[in-house]
Amino acid sequence: MTEGAATASEDIEAYLRAHQHKSLLRFITCGSVDDGKSTLIGRLLYDTKMVFEDQLAALESDSRKMGTQGEAIDFALLVDGLAAEREQGITIDVAYRYFATDNRKYIVADTPGHEQYTRNMATGASTADVAIILIDARKGVLTQTRRHSFIVSLMGIRHVVLAVNKMDLTGFDRAVFEAIEADYRAFAEALDFARITCIPVSALGGDNVMTRSDAMPWYEGPSLMDYLETVEVENRLQEKPFRFPVQWVNRPNLDFRGFSGRIAAGRVAPGMEVRILPSARTSRVKAIVTADGDLPEAAAGQSVTLTLEDEVDVSRGDMICDASRPAELTDQFEGHLIWMGDEPMLPGRPYLMKTGALTLPVTVTRLKHAVNVNTMEEQAAKRLELNEIGVCNFSTERPFPFDAFRDIQETGCFVLIDRFSNATVGAGTIHFALRRASNVHWQSLDIDKKTRAELMGQKPRCVWLTGLSGAGKSTIANLVEKKLFALGRYTYTLDGDNVRHGLNRDLGFTDAERVENIRRVAEVAKLMVDAGLIVLVSFISPFAAERRLAREKFEDGEFVEVFVDASLEAVERRDPKGLYKKAREGKISNFTGISSPYEAPENPELTIRSDFEAAEEAAEKIVDFLLR
Ligand code: ADX
Repeated sequence: MTEGAATASEDIEAYLRAHQHKSLLRFITCGSVDDGKSTLIGRLLYDTKMVFEDQLAALESDSRKMGTQGEAIDFALLVDGLAAEREQGITIDVAYRYFATDNRKYIVADTPGHEQYTRNMATGASTADVAIILIDARKGVLTQTRRHSFIVSLMGIRHVVLAVNKMDLTGFDRAVFEAIEADYRAFAEALDFARITCIPVSALGGDNVMTRSDAMPWYEGPSLMDYLETVEVENRLQEKPFRFPVQWVNRPNLDFRGFSGRIAAGRVAPGMEVRILPSARTSRVKAIVTADGDLPEAAAGQSVTLTLEDEVDVSRGDMICDASRPAELTDQFEGHLIWMGDEPMLPGRPYLMKTGALTLPVTVTRLKHAVNVNTMEEQAAKRLELNEIGVCNFSTERPFPFDAFRDIQETGCFVLIDRFSNATVGAGTIHFALRRASNVHWQSLDIDKKTRAELMGQKPRCVWLTGLSGAGKSTIANLVEKKLFALGRYTYTLDGDNVRHGLNRDLGFTDAERVENIRRVAEVAKLMVDAGLIVLVSFISPFAAERRLAREKFEDGEFVEVFVDASLEAVERRDPKGLYKKAREGKISNFTGISSPYEAPENPELTIRSDFEAAEEAAEKIVDFLLR
């Protein structure tokens, strides 16, 4: 969850080296577009003298050109580094800034407040110790404030500063501040914060930013800088059990085999007994190798290469753990999910999950509930839209090592990636493994697919026909089955309309229900192939993601995708069931091709142009393909 940090990592390392002896505080600022967040950070940087001369000169001239503060310096321009942001007047990505005092060094993740950028916020929050949540004193606690606070708490930040900004615009009114403080504390009770500190400030005028302001003598707490200088954050990551996700296997020659990555938690030293997950093999650390020579010890945050005493099998994505306190393994778990995709999250749809150095296929098996970010109440939901948060059950393709987020944040969080666009669409935290997963075992049976197929004298297959309603899928499937039957093959046809009378009787035609419709029929088809049959599946199956899910359930060569391609005009003209007419009249909603999308296959094994080819010919073509 640190995409932004990676690009800035070289700067950060140079900076950290320069201030080696000081303690480090990472914080994140969150607020709405106009709350004055950039002005506040700009002021912190300026007043701690972290603005370099050349930057300052540019700032002064920029301020006159496009600033909103007349001749005075517009601190927001200092922070809103990207030209595009200046023009739009909004902050659009996570920007990391560094500054230092005599005491401490600081890394600030400046994250956008604009509604659609929850993703960047979660990115910035994932590494921070403290969150500064900005509020405009004139507006008070907003939905945005609540959402940000909730994400901050989900990301494991335990210390929050509520900076009530623009106090100058309320005449430094104590009552306004106290009402906002009470409001926020009441709301935040439901969140898992260790401490909330409320500070009335004016970022523009610098009141209560570096030092206490004379304008608010009634305020007795610390200035923002005093707070940052003294807040005690338990940086206990190094005290946690050792966790080392293997990013790559380093094998320059036959004599050397090392495992490289970044230590996610804990410490390691030569001689330590380690367990490698998922294989559960054990060994001992032989050496900690770096470019500057071997180390006697290394701790969380350091990038190193480990060598082991034994020739154990370790691959990229494995986790090397403290053998006495290893991570858990699971393929089903419950967790929180923050959705960041433009397309909604649909249970049953396959995504990729990235956790540690591992990427593996995952589906949400159940959306237990969504969370109303205003009231923290659970609410029933069938899907998660952009920026929504829910509690879900997840199922991964194979077991992976993890820790509960509560115990070790680094190894208890993940992101979800869309399999087609490769975009990050969700971020989550792991609560616990689902017990049912570890208590249900796969029963192995002596009579298997191969034996059954041999008895039938055929190669079992799943022939998957996809296409618009009325394109001719069922007609063709019927002919194919008759031909195979005549050739003495054992077959079965699963037809959308028919299966929807029984097994899938409970499902309608929303996107979420179609995903489940296809998931179920793919599982049934798989059982039938396991039984040795040639199965014909005739479902619209409009979404590429679920057809891919179906394909992945089968062995190579078993799945034959047949695109029954007919133009919308052609099927609408024929309209065998009169459904297109009804759909056009608005009497059927979510009708494929009209009010619901159809995603044509990109690489089907066969394409039938059913507006031009006769069904008989098409069936012949499929049978030929199967017998070839
Ligand atoms: S799928 O999209 O979930 O794969 P499926 O193949 O099971 O659909 O069912 C499609 C059949 O249901 C169509 O051939 C049509 O007869 C009927 N049907 C009823 N309503 C709709 C609708 N809104 N969209 C598509 N098909 C519908």
